[in-house]
Amino acid sequence: MLKIQYLGHSCFMIDTGTHRLLLDPFISGNPLAEAIDVKALMPHYILVSHGHADHIADCVDIAHQSNAKVICNFEVGEWLRKHGITQIHSGNYGGKLLYDFGFVKIVNAVHSSIMPDETYGGNPVGFLINIAGKNIYYAGDTGLTMDMKLIPMWGKPDVALLPIGNTFTMDVDDAIIASNFIECNQIIGMHYDTFPPIKINHEEAKQKFTDAGKKLNLLWVGESMEL
Ligand code: NI
Ligand code: MN
Repeated sequence: MLKIQYLGHSCFMIDTGTHRLLLDPFISGNPLAEAIDVKALMPHYILVSHGHADHIADCVDIAHQSNAKVICNFEVGEWLRKHGITQIHSGNYGGKLLYDFGFVKIVNAVHSSIMPDETYGGNPVGFLINIAGKNIYYAGDTGLTMDMKLIPMWGKPDVALLPIGNTFTMDVDDAIIASNFIECNQIIGMHYDTFPPIKINHEEAKQKFTDAGKKLNLLWVGESMEL
């Protein structure tokens, strides 16, 4: 079993039944995610793509309550250490971190990063997650980049979690090009609707992917998809 649950914005819980990985926790500050009980989240790992508050806001609390290990870049890791988190596995571009569930490869994301207290956050990243025999590409916040062509060389994604909200990341049209680059037809959209500048037209977005021979899944907050 491999389940991907959407927790709003760019936050997901990947659950194999044995391992739970939480991605970019931003729940308590997201009015669209009111139905999610932050205190009930007990991941084994938390992956953080960069220091912006809409990706890290609930990380410290959830890491404390779950004793999860946080996977992130070096600078985000040092910031978390200063906030009392001890279970940290930090890396940087090129790093392929090995776990009993598979691996997490740290990949490029073209964006910016600063911690919530405005200290330096290093470079933003994405992740290629190999878990339970499947590859999941989590793009983080990023614009379209030719580097995405490297992703299938490291592992062809079975599903890709791509930002589609425009303004701060790729829009739908660029996300379709990205899905060609990564050689993946099964997409889950993220980083849309949370704030006015990233509101999208759902039907139009899904139709554009369908016209390109791909599937865009827009999950409601709390909804899960099984792979
Ligand atoms: Ni960001
Ligand atoms: Mn963001």
